[in-house]
Amino acid sequence: MATCVATPNIAFVKYWGKRDERLHLPVAGSVSMTLDETLASRTTVDFGGFPEDSFVLDGRKGEFPDVIGEIRERAGIARLKARIVSRNNFPPAAGLASSASGFAALVVAATDAAGLRLSGRDLSVLARKGSGSACRSVVGGFAEWRAGKRRDGSDSYAEQIAPARHWRGLVDLAIVLDGARKKMPSRAGMRQTVATSDLYGARVAGMAAKISECRRAIIERDAPALFALVMRESNNMHAVMLDTWPPISYMNDESRKAVCVIHELVNNGREPVCGYTFDAGPNPHIITTRRRTGGIIKALKEGGVKVRRALVCGAGDGPRIVRG
Ligand code: PMV
Repeated sequence: MATCVATPNIAFVKYWGKRDERLHLPVAGSVSMTLDETLASRTTVDFGGFPEDSFVLDGRKGEFPDVIGEIRERAGIARLKARIVSRNNFPPAAGLASSASGFAALVVAATDAAGLRLSGRDLSVLARKGSGSACRSVVGGFAEWRAGKRRDGSDSYAEQIAPARHWRGLVDLAIVLDGARKKMPSRAGMRQTVATSDLYGARVAGMAAKISECRRAIIERDAPALFALVMRESNNMHAVMLDTWPPISYMNDESRKAVCVIHELVNNGREPVCGYTFDAGPNPHIITTRRRTGGIIKALKEGGVKVRRALVCGAGDGPRIVRG
């Protein structure tokens, strides 16, 4: 039996589109920051002689994860049943993603409980099979998910660019605007974009340069460059979503209001103070430095943005096994 706590990650350069649906192999790479335990998933996996497999997520019976089968095979315990209990400390119905932290916690706890001692790379590959973006949550600090070329996905995993302590002041100010669940799951949305968007090819052609610029901005702690990059990158992803047929729109009027406020803030300052990025949902993630968060929340509220909740998440160290 083992328990693991893992956290979500926020992508600076985003993953949107697969070259293999079953293995969750992406068309292009991505770059992210794994968050601290402000938001966290805590998962216990027990192979201790149960009559059947069970999976309980936040107190409710859930679908037993496939990836456990592969872990059992590799550990030579194919016949042992598992009891899995997982809990998220996320604010309920906040629309903040939990699949990345959930699958990272699951594979780290399950491999530990099964007695497997895997490399970070192998753990990342396993987490990716649960949910693509989860492969980045296995890595602490700043991570690049390499798209890889192989058909079996063995070269598609995340690697650390820099540890969390490299840039302690950098935060994701997660603004909760709307509790509604997203209409289109990312899996179906991506598939539709790859199949129909004319602009998608241009997005993919620009990804390598964007990833290397993002790596440079992280390594040199170049905040103005990073802030500009995340905004343009998020807008690019949401542009191909809109170019999908039928169109996909995760951002809403409240999201766009927040974008306007941030652009005013950035233009009125002598240097950029922050940048926004949006995933497959309406909530803005404002990438900024810790000391600026109060001023940004104030500006959003003064700009008429309905801020339900604001969470300040720094960079985190990645999954940890909890003993005892
Ligand atoms: O792996 P998924 O299905 O959670 O996809 C996540 C996709 C985005 O959050 C929109 C972008 C990203 O890279 O995290």
